Amino acid sequence: MLDKENTLLITGGAGFIGSNYARMALERHPELRVVVYDKLTYAGNLQNLTDLAFRFGPRYAFVQGDIADPEAVEAAFRQHAVDAVVNFAAATHVDRSILGAEEFIQTEVFGTYTLLEAARRHGVERYLQVSSDEVYGQVLQGAADEGHPLTPRNPYAAAKAGGDLLALSYHTTHGVPVLITRGCNTFGPYQYPEKVVPLFVTNAIDDQPLPLYGDGRQEREWMYVLDHCAAIDLVLRQGQPGQVYNVGTGEHQENIALTRLILGYLEKPESLIQHVQDRPGHDHRYALDSAKLRALGWRPERSFEEALAETVAWYRQHPEWWRPLKSGEFLEYYRRQYGERLKG
Ligand code: TYD
Repeated sequence: MLDKENTLLITGGAGFIGSNYARMALERHPELRVVVYDKLTYAGNLQNLTDLAFRFGPRYAFVQGDIADPEAVEAAFRQHAVDAVVNFAAATHVDRSILGAEEFIQTEVFGTYTLLEAARRHGVERYLQVSSDEVYGQVLQGAADEGHPLTPRNPYAAAKAGGDLLALSYHTTHGVPVLITRGCNTFGPYQYPEKVVPLFVTNAIDDQPLPLYGDGRQEREWMYVLDHCAAIDLVLRQGQPGQVYNVGTGEHQENIALTRLILGYLEKPESLIQHVQDRPGHDHRYALDSAKLRALGWRPERSFEEALAETVAWYRQHPEWWRPLKSGEFLEYYRRQYGERLKG
């Protein structure tokens, strides 16, 4: 499966996890061709992929397009004779989905439908939908396995759950070989600086306040991006179509503890922490039971603290990557999201 000169379409491949995965897939599978298909929204960035054309030549191609544009999707499938799809394309930031949800529904639901239709028509060998632990809603105790009810509590999570259900229905109804991964919070190089880790790291580098929501006692499960990518690559090849696989490390941290670790690595004072008004409907805790994936042989390679230290170092060493992103549209969003909060 997917070893012999196959073509893998990576949608959302110019984003954070998608670009890390495109690089890993090309490195690990010498005969694989990769087509990155990406709309290049604010969070998609060709700078994340600059080395690929140079390193992998004709095995790599880039197509600019929206997964919610049926004609553009069909053209990409035809032009590149796609054998398999990994769909990372999504609007992903919870706070933005609270400010306005339309883009989330358009991409996560209609975009997923559009891709599934193309996958069905072209008879792909595999379709992997990259999803999130957020679809289970907050998990106050224990850990959610794949049978946990879907109880999403914010528009982003609800849109992702909609995409998951559509994907599973295409397996049941049309026999599309769908797989779903649901990952925990992910961090690492090339993450757009609206998410908590790169936002707090880059703010701290610039001695700017770190806006911690509420009391900061909310808990997330954290994973290094290359561990997440390795899990996706494994499920794509060895997962069973029609099945969902949670991807979690068991490394839980309260936001306040994560923030203190970041400040510690950067040798910055805790006085930069500013408690601000909480996110409405803020999920208190996420936790995944990933036994099903571990049975396929996956283990995270890096410990949380080791990976976080490396990630902080990467942002410190690559201001040329993130500094241009903290301008224009980002500043407009930042004012909308944090202006009043930071004044308060
Ligand atoms: P985030 O990176 O937005 O991921 P998600 O909401 O998908 O978990 O946020 C991670 C945690 O950090 C979450 O509990 C919200 C919190 N957070 C803050 O306290 N302040 C911030 O400015 C942001 C962006 C997040």
